[in-house]
Amino acid sequence: MASRVVFLSFVVFSFSSVLASDPSSLQDFCVADANNTALVNGFACKDPKMVQADDFSFSGLHLPGNTSNPVGSKVTLINVAKIPGLNTLGVSLARIDYAPWGINPPHYHPRASEIFTVIKGSLEVGFVTSNPENRFITKILHQGDVFVFPAGLIHFQRNLGTGLHLPFQV
Ligand SMILES: *[C@@H]1O[C@H](CO)[C@@H](O)[C@H](O)[C@H]1NC(C)=O
Ligand SMILES: *[C@@H]1O[C@H](CO)[C@@H](O)[C@H](O)[C@H]1NC(C)=O
Repeated sequence: MASRVVFLSFVVFSFSSVLASDPSSLQDFCVADANNTALVNGFACKDPKMVQADDFSFSGLHLPGNTSNPVGSKVTLINVAKIPGLNTLGVSLARIDYAPWGINPPHYHPRASEIFTVIKGSLEVGFVTSNPENRFITKILHQGDVFVFPAGLIHFQRNLGTGLHLPFQV
């Protein structure tokens, strides 16, 4: 009987995973209006009739970040502050440059998973699980490799030589 209870709870869990999704948007987009100080979940929307292509665009991701700092890495974050059209979409992008042996120190994103790819060089990456507690998942990545950090888990990347990667947070 006990094992049956376990099985049923697993089925319930599986269903809740499969059905889980973000609620649908009520509009095509909600370009952030930097001049509106209303307290909403995200930023208030710019009038859609006033929206331009530049509201959905950023230039300069090809430029390397300055890694002359104590950790030897530089995160160039492309979020709603850089692209107003990202507001409410639940996605952002970053470029990270690493000096030789530079590290993006352990940190976590409470509400976002992260997927990234190595553009150049090799990186040691890893994250720590919460269940089972404190299991260390690690791998060495090379150019073209893709890796995922699940939301809320502490993770890091460290350069083993020279490298650059592009994490996409969803
Ligand atoms: C914010 O206000 C300034 C000054 O009125 C204006 O130049 C700018 O275009 C406005 N920005 C947005 C996003 O509406
Ligand atoms: C990079 O940052 C260092 C430390 O702040 C600074 O001295 C150096 O001028 C910067 N290099 C470039 C190319 O901006």
